[in-house]
Amino acid sequence: MTVSELDHKYDVRPFVEAPVIDTTNDNTVIKLDAIDLSKFEDYPEGSLSRQKLADQLEKTITTSGFFNVVNYGYDLEKLEHLKAVAQSLLKLPDEEKRKYHSGAPTAEEDLENKKKGLGAERGEGYKPKGFWKMKDSVRDSIDHFNFRDAKLEAVFAKKNSEGIYPEVFSAYQKEVNAYYKYVHEVVLRKVLTLCDIILEIPEGTLYGKYFSLTDSVTTSSGGHGRFMLYHPLTENEASKVDGTWLRGHSDISAFSIITSQPILSLQISDYESGEWKYVDYRPNSLVCNIGDALEFLTGGYFKASMHRVSLPPAKQLGYERLVLIDFINPLEDTVIHPTTLASSKLKKVGLHERPEWDKITYKQWDAVKGALLGADGVGDRSTLKYYGRQIERWHYLDKE
Ligand SMILES: [Fe+2]
Repeated sequence: MTVSELDHKYDVRPFVEAPVIDTTNDNTVIKLDAIDLSKFEDYPEGSLSRQKLADQLEKTITTSGFFNVVNYGYDLEKLEHLKAVAQSLLKLPDEEKRKYHSGAPTAEEDLENKKKGLGAERGEGYKPKGFWKMKDSVRDSIDHFNFRDAKLEAVFAKKNSEGIYPEVFSAYQKEVNAYYKYVHEVVLRKVLTLCDIILEIPEGTLYGKYFSLTDSVTTSSGGHGRFMLYHPLTENEASKVDGTWLRGHSDISAFSIITSQPILSLQISDYESGEWKYVDYRPNSLVCNIGDALEFLTGGYFKASMHRVSLPPAKQLGYERLVLIDFINPLEDTVIHPTTLASSKLKKVGLHERPEWDKITYKQWDAVKGALLGADGVGDRSTLKYYGRQIERWHYLDKE
């Protein structure tokens, strides 16, 4: 079947984005720093170009922990098409989606699954909207679909052949594989090389030791992909949850790489003031943020910032938000402690030892924080502490 025949069969059509709004002089919005990956020149000739990018990245990754990448080299038409596929998948009839639920339909009913495994939030398949309790009687309005091993072509193809995913997803498995593999092998590899330079460790260390892909699930760097569709809340619901679409949190993973879209809704805690501010839309960019794993590996030098998703400004209310996310984990047995890296930079900034932190593996942190996901509503959990580390940490200038 040709792509247009497939698109017709599965009702794949462009996603209708919210209109772009002018954010000039709007102090509720933060423009993220843009790392231009077209300026990344490969070894050995381009070391100056990489050093310049690393200097730029260091400022942002040690403060807000969020940045855009631009000119990252992926065919943007292909990415738009993949978004259209994601929309079709997330808008299948409920009775069809139910066949592929990742767990129980609500967090309350999913507790037993969670004790045994990943639970519905992180397991493969659909988490239906209404799964999480937010506040009072309000429940979330987010549909998401998780999938694993999309970067391992043969493994992913085999899983798709076993009928564990909806037909529309499997019909486009090559597109899913192409995008996620590219994000990992090109975007992530370059960004991690810049992180090596910042940390003054040999280029290639982070990617080679903790994030490389193999053709086997047991030896490959982990993580998962997610397609996510936020439906508008009613006015009444929005007022009860103070306009929050998804509660504030820091990510468990090392990196999250997310598509960028015109609707203003992702908010980060401003490093200067601590206030929640919208992340501005930068066309054709990806939004990257670091998560707990990389914060702990760098002794807290890199910041896994608190972020949440809020309803957009008035002009964009009523629109849906569709994002494609890659949650990237290091290898499970990575000891997420700064002594692992032996970085002279971390020594200079005094973050190379962190004696108050237990030397735990990524797997241990993932288990303890993963078990808390969705366990409560809108509030934050920065007071909870495990292995000497707070579950979530607010980072402000001079307020460490
Ligand atoms: Fe997140």
